[in-house]
Amino acid sequence: GIAACMLKNGKAAPILLGCVKRLEYRGYDSVGIATLDSSIIVEKDKGKIKDFEKYLDLSKLPGRIGLGHVRWATHGPPTKENAHPHLDCEGKIAVVHNGIISNYEELKDELKSEGHKFTSETDTEVIAHLIEKYKNDGHDLEEAVKRALKRLKGSYAMAVISSDEPDKIIGARKENPLIVAKGDSGYFLASDIPAILEHARNVIFLEDNEMVIIDDTGHQIKDLEGKIKKKEFEYVEWTLEMAEKGGYKHFMLKEIYEQPQVLRDTLREFKTIQKVVDEIGEIKRICFVACGTSYHAALVGKYLFESILHIPTDAIIASEFQYTANTLDEETLAIFITQSGETADTLNALKAANKNSKTLAIVNVIGSTATREADHVIYTRAGPEIAVAATKTYICQLACIYMLAAAIGKKPEIMEDLKKVPEEIEKILREDNFIKEIAKTYKDKPDFLFIGRGFSYPTALEGALKLKEITYIHAEGYASGELKHGPIALIEDGVPVVAIAPPPFPLETTKIEEDEFHDSHSLTLGNIEEVKSRGAKVIGLGAEDDEEFKKNTSAYISFNPSIREEISPLLYIIPLQLLAYHISVMKKEDPDHPRNLAKCVTVD
Ligand code: G6P
Repeated sequence: GIAACMLKNGKAAPILLGCVKRLEYRGYDSVGIATLDSSIIVEKDKGKIKDFEKYLDLSKLPGRIGLGHVRWATHGPPTKENAHPHLDCEGKIAVVHNGIISNYEELKDELKSEGHKFTSETDTEVIAHLIEKYKNDGHDLEEAVKRALKRLKGSYAMAVISSDEPDKIIGARKENPLIVAKGDSGYFLASDIPAILEHARNVIFLEDNEMVIIDDTGHQIKDLEGKIKKKEFEYVEWTLEMAEKGGYKHFMLKEIYEQPQVLRDTLREFKTIQKVVDEIGEIKRICFVACGTSYHAALVGKYLFESILHIPTDAIIASEFQYTANTLDEETLAIFITQSGETADTLNALKAANKNSKTLAIVNVIGSTATREADHVIYTRAGPEIAVAATKTYICQLACIYMLAAAIGKKPEIMEDLKKVPEEIEKILREDNFIKEIAKTYKDKPDFLFIGRGFSYPTALEGALKLKEITYIHAEGYASGELKHGPIALIEDGVPVVAIAPPPFPLETTKIEEDEFHDSHSLTLGNIEEVKSRGAKVIGLGAEDDEEFKKNTSAYISFNPSIREEISPLLYIIPLQLLAYHISVMKKEDPDHPRNLAKCVTVD
């Protein structure tokens, strides 16, 4: 999270410390403040703010202007050097940044060849040096920032100060929130409202590709061509607690709604994933290992790698790994999926696999144990996930698995399909009220069944897991075809059955002969008839033009028909997350803190 202020009088440092404290609830790993008096002074370190605060001497940070930052590491582990603010070579420009600069390596090479010296592994540091480069060309700060912004790919919210123009702060945003706030004591910039709520309630939400220039005459908002944009302040009435959750009632809901954005951020990792795949070399067999929700992502991986790439693939529950995985060898790639990177079961399996095979970890938390143990690492770019039940990290794990498949199988069409998904998620999120209605109808039912075939089977498992985790309703996920082998005995009048049946993927991608191939869709429709005739209430998830499916359902959640089975796991889980969330709230449970569960389980 970032914060910046330009006070009318008084010292910026204590105010900035307060601002960054208001952002730390999201679990950050390093902190820093820079203030500007006659020169720029920086104090920063890794670790929590409460420790930093103990030895921080605020009297060393004079000046009424400054920047503050709490970091959730994306490039480079949490160290003092990687903490923000970052400076240019001469220490005359300071930058704080949220987001990911995806072309930072190219820019860094270019700047290095021009003599710039870097002191961190972050993507952010290139911003300070780029601005310096354009200032050295003779441009003023505003023009230099503008030129630098035009060179950046990826996402950012940033604030910049320079000792050459000491009464000025410049902010800019692209795909990462940045607000401008005006209070009695002065101007503020922040990535999030809670940071500044104590000082100002009149705010402007910057839009993508806008920058703000604040000086003693006031503020100006401009686009990257320098055209002035008129914007009115809005008064924010939120309480601090509401503000921390971005105005949402719970972190889980906020995180569900963040999914289009974090998916876009994760899709930018494709180049890095391609590099990792090149490093790994030939892969004859894959073995995914994970727990909980991450295991469901692993299972999607099995369907994807086997059906589309035809690579033999296992998906193993981490705690079962030692009892089954005795055939790993050098030609096997063992892939460990873990949001936290600290789950004991997964780490134990990873350590064992390291002895026999190549290992890769797909992790959300930079610097976590899994990232140090595995031979190779891919990061999900979900940002901090606070709610115990995983939502946005699951989508990002899936995205990484699909990108791996695209890179290993040299199938660019997978990337094309993936790029369509964020917008489709946005459409489903707009149907939230309809999903709430479904929640209201079924919230008091004691049992739920979730069914799906093929790629929809892991979605059924994950939908059931979400429901049991946060509502305590008994729910089972089943492969549709297994119903008749047991669970159909549970069906009686009124039992809700959530049936997932997207349009099937085309036959030509399989190795099966046409007359032997029974697509998942038509078979699931048959299973739906079976439960319906025994009194089940079917909640269907399928294509909006699938009339045959629709007519056998009591409620129907529609999706774009162009999203076929093979990409559907990234989309069809979204309404099931919402369904679980709404039922939890309606039952007056706390979806963010379900009983008996921990976000990260470090015992085996
Ligand atoms: C815990 C959490 C689950 C999570 C699982 C695996 O049990 O409650 O939500 O899916 O751990 O966590 P990981 O961090 O390894 O993905």
